Amino acid sequence: MQKIFAANWKMYKTRAQASQGAGELASGLGQLPAGHEVVVFAPFTSISCVADAFNGKPVLSAGGQNCYPAEEGAFTGETSPAMLRDAGASWVLTGHSERRHIMGEDDALVARKTIFALEHGLNVLLCIGETLDEREAGKLNAVLEKQLSAVFSAMPGNLRGDALVGRLAVGYEPVWAIGTGKVAGPEEVLDAHAVTRALLQKLVGETANRLPILYGGSVKPNNAAGLMALDNVDGLLVGGASLEAKSFLQIIGA
Ligand code: 13P
Repeated sequence: MQKIFAANWKMYKTRAQASQGAGELASGLGQLPAGHEVVVFAPFTSISCVADAFNGKPVLSAGGQNCYPAEEGAFTGETSPAMLRDAGASWVLTGHSERRHIMGEDDALVARKTIFALEHGLNVLLCIGETLDEREAGKLNAVLEKQLSAVFSAMPGNLRGDALVGRLAVGYEPVWAIGTGKVAGPEEVLDAHAVTRALLQKLVGETANRLPILYGGSVKPNNAAGLMALDNVDGLLVGGASLEAKSFLQIIGA
């Protein structure tokens, strides 16, 4: 199984800071086991800085945090997958909870973005996750099913089965654990990842066993190893603790 360590820099870092941070990552990263990949999801303005700093290191990739599902057009403020690729990105995040809950993106838009980005040559880290209210109302499974099925029920035939392997990863991020310091407990992570794997199996069959599922939400150097040891945790999606190269490298090394 592919393992992915992803940094989500959110709306942080100038171009100079991004170049410096990505340079520190590139020089500090030791030899990774086969199949491991590190992706930095940077703000649009600094994707090219990250890609330049990573140039030539095949396990390091740059990604965008959002894209719009059209090739070009009158979509003020938006960026197409081709533009992200032109800036040096090979990945994009879709469905991050901050886009769902702050920018109001619904499941249908997340599905369109995910499919369009895949069709236009980007790999996608599709984020899903429940709010605290949804969890307390016993709706975890229903929320994850709704978020995943919106995407997979619309997936075109040429993006089914093996075509998704190496191109699509799922990030489970409980909204209540993002930026709060509250990491989900091992039982909660095990359960949510098992639910996610089972839903993927229902939606894409055997291919589901080859799609990495990442955990995100208050990942730190001191909890990374414990999270990675859990069944169905195939990587980590790190916000705050990825902003310093040193702590992100500690997470990868753990
Ligand atoms: P934190 O690691 O800061 O909780 O953020 C998680 C996240 O949203 C990554 O996408």
